[in-house]
Amino acid sequence: METQQLAKVERLSPLRRWGRFVLVRLCVLLVGGTFIVSGFSKALDPQGMCLKLQAYAAAWGWHVSPDALPVRTATGLLAILEFLLGIYLLLGIRRYFATRFTLLLTLALTLLTTYIYIYSPVADCGCFGAILTLSNGQTLAKNVVLLLCSLYLCFRSRDIRRLISEKNQWGASIWSFLFVCGLTLWTYHYLPRADFAPFSVGTDLRKALETGQDEQVASFYALTAEGEDATLALATDTGRTFLLTLPDIPRADDGNNDRLNDLHDLCADRHWQFYALTAEGQDFSQWNDRTGATYPVLVADESQLRALARSNPGLVMLHDGKVVAKWSCNNLPETETDIAAAEKQQKEQTRWDAIKHLATLYLLPLIIWLLLDNLYVGSRFLKHWHIRRKIKLKIQTHKTTLNKQQSMRKKIVAGNWKMNKNLQEGVALAKELNEVLTADRPNCGVVICTPFIHLATVSGVIDHSVIGLGAENCANKASGAYTGEVSAEMVKSTGAEYVILGHSERRAYYGETPEILKEKVNLALENGLKVIFCIGEVLEEREAGKQNEVVKAQLEGSLFDLTAEQFANVVLAYEPVWAIGTGKTATADQAEEMHAFIRTTIAEKFGAEAAENTTILYGGSCKPSNARELFAKPDVDGGLIGGASLKAPDFKGIIDAWK
Ligand code: PGA
Repeated sequence: METQQLAKVERLSPLRRWGRFVLVRLCVLLVGGTFIVSGFSKALDPQGMCLKLQAYAAAWGWHVSPDALPVRTATGLLAILEFLLGIYLLLGIRRYFATRFTLLLTLALTLLTTYIYIYSPVADCGCFGAILTLSNGQTLAKNVVLLLCSLYLCFRSRDIRRLISEKNQWGASIWSFLFVCGLTLWTYHYLPRADFAPFSVGTDLRKALETGQDEQVASFYALTAEGEDATLALATDTGRTFLLTLPDIPRADDGNNDRLNDLHDLCADRHWQFYALTAEGQDFSQWNDRTGATYPVLVADESQLRALARSNPGLVMLHDGKVVAKWSCNNLPETETDIAAAEKQQKEQTRWDAIKHLATLYLLPLIIWLLLDNLYVGSRFLKHWHIRRKIKLKIQTHKTTLNKQQSMRKKIVAGNWKMNKNLQEGVALAKELNEVLTADRPNCGVVICTPFIHLATVSGVIDHSVIGLGAENCANKASGAYTGEVSAEMVKSTGAEYVILGHSERRAYYGETPEILKEKVNLALENGLKVIFCIGEVLEEREAGKQNEVVKAQLEGSLFDLTAEQFANVVLAYEPVWAIGTGKTATADQAEEMHAFIRTTIAEKFGAEAAENTTILYGGSCKPSNARELFAKPDVDGGLIGGASLKAPDFKGIIDAWK
């Protein structure tokens, strides 16, 4: 499956491949980026998302508190899920799983936002918290685009680039999980590190009330228990004013009431105003009972209270009508110094500074991890590269040795005309061959072995650098009264370089024994001729499984008294007698098996090097149609050709098997 896909990618044109790469990258950036921003903004202000969930629930007629544990948990999980999916996509972690899960999530979100778009139960979906507010229409459009991109990524998950090796993905996953989880919990416990809600630090309440410019802030009100407007009293006070926000008294955390009462005492001491702000319908006496509070209480809008401080209770300090500091109930200030320090710190650190700090806190370890991973992958790559190089070198050396060995071993196609062709016909054939082979040079040595009477004339018409000349026999005597015989010396004197000895026809019809052949071989070599020495078993011997034995005896009987130097001038021809002139060829495997055996036998006698350098030809019904298969065998170095050497085109066809 994977190979098929790979093959498909291979077949793509570079332009299409590039296009696909860009499209995948774009979708990853779009979907991954959106999820990261969305998850991060929820972790940065989970209470904001809890309020959204409360609004959704209210639209369906359920009353849930944003402080309820299930709501907080759901928000936290959503933040973690979105952030992790975004990181997984961008870094190419668990691509199959990440793309499928992303598709599921975007599908669910698209369905939800379609509903919201049609029925408008809330004014905005709250995907990005208070950082970025989108209309319901914009949200739907965004989700449709994300859905299409996620769908495409599902099909192309393998094309998403991995920025971290599979082995080290766990590090990036755990760190991302810890970061987003930690940030969410931290924010729940304290306040958002970057506050994008209305009434953030720096908001000028007085100015907003006077000009009506910031609608949400301008609509702020605070009423006394008697229903009198106390808004201006808060906004116009030139000193410090502390507001304890209590949007949901039954769920408010009273664990810090001692600190709160101390702070109230400090305020009374310094003549700073201190009010509790609670929502309409809340029973403040409950808080009085639980904490012994003695501070005055005002009533305000619940959502504005939750915007003032994302804590229940939360503390907001106004100075000169401006929001200057905020605290969660879990880190209330104790002394004037604490108050001043918080005011200074919150004034100096803008929300974008806070985001930059958080980004650095997250990215720095992640980048270090990615770099380490790259080093790890790089070192592994280097190691593999090194090993691969070593193996390559070994193979190359081996090949070179083999080539060397093979090139030292001459490839030969030799023709054995036997008792065919009169002089004129023979000369004509030699001329024709010479012409053909000088025009199209062979890739191997070519030898023609002719009857004695042809030798001298043929020698004169062939180019000896292309075609070698050989006799089919020579006498076992050097010279003298041997009527009808032709000596090795005479053969040599015609210009011939080779002589065939030990052919099965001479062994069978002329009684040539191993001893006679030994004499002939010695004389031929003494006279500077190269010997093409034939060996091979008859059918009965093969059928009896004695072929190896027979061939070995033939070698031993005629050649094993030679020195290695002498033996270097012997070419062997394995010719199974049952295949000669019968049209029955030994199979390539049979030939190879015997050639390998012969080579081993030679190695045992003359050494491995001599064996490697010995040319061993195959003979017996070799034709253009089977030559290539036979010659492809590693131990078959060419052929000794009878019938097929009598026609130039057939002989040429066999010679061309080496091309
Ligand atoms: P063949 O003869 O090719 O006609 O079988 C081979 C030989 O005897 O050398």
